[in-house]
Amino acid sequence: MTENYTINRDFATQVLSWYDQNARDLPWRVGPEAREKGVRPDPYFVWLSEIMLQQTTIPHATRYFLEFTRRWPDVFALAAAERDEIMAAWAGLGYYSRVRNLYACAQIVADKGGFPETAAELIRLPGIGPYTSGAIAAIAFDEQAAAVDGNVERVMSRYLAIEQPLREIKPRLRQAVEGIVPLHRPGDFAQAMMDLGATVCTPRSPSCDACPLHGGCKAFELGDVTKFPVKSKAPAKPRREGTAFIHIENGELTLERRPDTGLLAGMVGLPTTEWITLNPSAKADSPSSVGQNTGFVEHVFTHFHLTLHVNVVESIVSEHPVRVPIKAWDKTGLPSVFQKAVRLYLKHQH
Ligand code: ADE
Repeated sequence: MTENYTINRDFATQVLSWYDQNARDLPWRVGPEAREKGVRPDPYFVWLSEIMLQQTTIPHATRYFLEFTRRWPDVFALAAAERDEIMAAWAGLGYYSRVRNLYACAQIVADKGGFPETAAELIRLPGIGPYTSGAIAAIAFDEQAAAVDGNVERVMSRYLAIEQPLREIKPRLRQAVEGIVPLHRPGDFAQAMMDLGATVCTPRSPSCDACPLHGGCKAFELGDVTKFPVKSKAPAKPRREGTAFIHIENGELTLERRPDTGLLAGMVGLPTTEWITLNPSAKADSPSSVGQNTGFVEHVFTHFHLTLHVNVVESIVSEHPVRVPIKAWDKTGLPSVFQKAVRLYLKHQH
């Protein structure tokens, strides 16, 4: 298909006027009023928030953002920190390859003396893809760059009532957005689109009456806004199953440092069996026969669903043990899946 999308000329103006009244107050953001007076956002704040927000909601990311910027107020401080300290502080945010990239990126940026200012240069840094490079260039450096995330895709696919599944039209949609980013206030435009997608044009119950775009929105005109974006059927996630071991001796819980590659690489975790892939119809119900079973927890990773049984054992063999006082287990930066397992064990104790 070569047809181009038609977007009203006043699209950006309408979105920016809405943003002037409705911008969310976020700790990394310089609001439209201050921006107008010449206050500029800190590129470190913009970068850090964008990386954190790639994988989680604003309330969850905000806690981490505040803690990171308190401990490491600029990219030089972050680059000078111990990698393990940063990994532990990231625990709970998930997708641990991101934190390895975050650290690698901080090293490069600190070496160069600061962030590059264009999307074309930013995209060459670890952990920065097309969306993030556009977002940072627009928000921090006023480049006329597009930042197309899931929110923006939803707003646009509704506005244009695009019948094809998103996956098929992503590049074309991106081009369409590139064509409407205003020369003036490109960063506010990017943030306005994100806010609009997150607060008005929401996935399940959009507030079309409050939307600055409803006059030109094709999905609204059709009376079927939530039909868009049209989804292609995603294959079901495969399921895996394993057992994690709780071993406590002299008040200390045995953890181990995970290998530097693979899932949750470099993080501290509970010792576990291998995680075996189940065939789709199998029920997950067989913990390791080693130790005393206390139940199981479920966790959804990007590419599979895990059932993790939790067994208490009296002895353990571990190549890289890390022993922590059980009373301080929640200070060790355990990834969420292992936090769930320890909590299940502790609940079982009471
Ligand atoms: N989601 C991702 N980045 C964001 C930002 N800068 N503002 C609001 N929501 C976002």
